[in-house]
Formats: sequence, structure tokens, C-alpha cells
Amino acid sequence: MSKKVLVATIKPFAKAAVEQIKTVFSEAGYELVLLESYKEQSEFVEAVNDVDALIIRSDKCTEEVLNNAKNLKIVVRAGAGYDNIDLQVATENGVVAMNTPGQNSNAVAELVFGLMITLARKQYLGKAGTELKYKKIGIHAYGNVGKFVSKIAKGFEMEVFAYDPYVDDAIMKADDVQPVTSVEELYSSCDYISLHLPKIKETINSVNSELMSQMKKGAAIINTARKEVVDEEGLKRIFAERDDFLFASDVAPDCKDELREKYPERCFFTAKKMGAQTLEANINAGVAAATQIINFLEKGDTTFKVN
Ligand code: 3PG
Repeated sequence: MSKKVLVATIKPFAKAAVEQIKTVFSEAGYELVLLESYKEQSEFVEAVNDVDALIIRSDKCTEEVLNNAKNLKIVVRAGAGYDNIDLQVATENGVVAMNTPGQNSNAVAELVFGLMITLARKQYLGKAGTELKYKKIGIHAYGNVGKFVSKIAKGFEMEVFAYDPYVDDAIMKADDVQPVTSVEELYSSCDYISLHLPKIKETINSVNSELMSQMKKGAAIINTARKEVVDEEGLKRIFAERDDFLFASDVAPDCKDELREKYPERCFFTAKKMGAQTLEANINAGVAAATQIINFLEKGDTTFKVN
């Protein structure tokens, strides 16, 4: 019997990416089932019932999903952050979880600049803005996306700084990025702070009012990481206390409507998470996920296993 793979995407991949994923699986003799734009989590729970493998994006791979997936051997998050997978249950159930690091990083990095320019040009509403040239950008966490951000920032002739206690200074220096020794130094010296932190216990609410209050006059935070890394109470406080603070996010906070209403010129939120939503990123991440599934099921290859 052929192996069955479910692609469950509440925010679907571009059509051309789905076609390429289909081709990869059909060449391997696998059956592919699509569950796109589903409205209820229960549809996802039901759809995993008899599948051997699963591809998801930010879809919530919960305990309920995993416990209902009796034949599941592998789940691949087509993307970088896997905070949407209950890794403990996956491990208990003998399910391998993987991500596809780097595959959508350039797309996210390009959006960082879209958001920065949106703020710098005052949302294109007619007022004079500012330029990115010669401004200082601080990259908070120097992973795959951070690297792409640094590369693009050089094209804008920005001065690039980064803080990441887990990355060797030499790696940053090789990219012509100036490492800073403390997160406070990054926030107090840069005009733009771009967040690239994963959502883990240590990072939740870590961008707090104490840190934000140290930012330069007129400085901006760009969040294309996860909404939970920014402390929302602190965010509201800093908006209220400082009339120069700017914030743009692809992962809108729960308080977005309040911020938009009170400070329409100082904040900007995408309608939904759009960072990785490009044709290229969808193809890269989707095909990588499909290939990783086949390599695991056929050859036991566990590259990019995260549990
Ligand atoms: C990621 O972690 O790869 C990004 O946040 C992209 O998420 P998405 O696939 O839900 O757009």
C-alpha cells in the first residue's frame, strides 16, 4: 500500500508550490492529500487519521492531532519555527518532527525591509519620511533570517549590529556585522531593531518595557518573529509614554486594534503573517519538507529532526 501524506495548511502554499510538492510525492509513489484553508481545528484532527506523514506551516500540531494520527511517523514544519508542534507528545508517540531551516529566510528578511520602509516613509500618507541609508540596524538573534537581513541592510548602506549569545562573534564579523555584548547595548544604540528570536520559554515576553524604554528617540522595532516574544503590556506602556516610538509587525500582537486606533501613524501590522508567503519560499520549504519525508521514510535520514 502506498504511503499517505497530508499537507495541512490553514494558510495555503502558492499553487505552483503545491504542484511541485505533488510531483515529488507522485514520483516516489506516495499518495498526497491536501487540507487547505480549513476553518476548524477539528477538520485537521480528522484529516490526520490515517496518514503516514504530515506537512504543516504554522498549523497547530497539538496533542489531539498527534493522538488521532495513529499511523503518523513524521511531521515536517515547512518553515523555521516549530513552536506550533507539541514536541513532547510527538516524541512520546514515536513521531519524528522536523523543520526546514533556511528555506524561507530570504522571504522573511525582504519583508523586514518592506516594514522598515513603511515606517520610515510614514505609511505613504504624504508626510516627509526618512531614509534607511546610514541608519543603524540591530539584529536581535543572528540565525538564518538575521543573516539575510544583514546582507540586505548592507545594500541600503546601513550600519549593522547584532546580538546573539549563542552565535560566535567571528560568524558575525565574517559577515561584516558588529557584534554587541549585551541586548541593552543593541536596543540603546540602534535606529531599527529587527527581531528574529524563536519562541521558547526564555524568549517569551523578553522584549519588555525596560528594554524598549532604552531605545533611541524615533527608533523602531520590527517583529517578523513571533508575537509572544514582545511583552504586550510593556509595548502598550512604551507607546503611551513615548510619542516617538515606532513598531511594525508581521505577527500582530493581541492589542493591535487598540494600538492602531490610538497610534495609527506609529504602528503597522500585516493582515496575516506574510513573511514566508512568497512563491519562492513556498516552493523551497514545501519541496524540502516533501524530500525530507521521503528520505526519512525510505532511508531513515533524520537530518533536521528537532525532537
Ligand atoms: C517560520 O517559522 O518559518 C515562519 O514564521 C513562517 O511561518 P508560515 O509558514 O506560517 O508563514
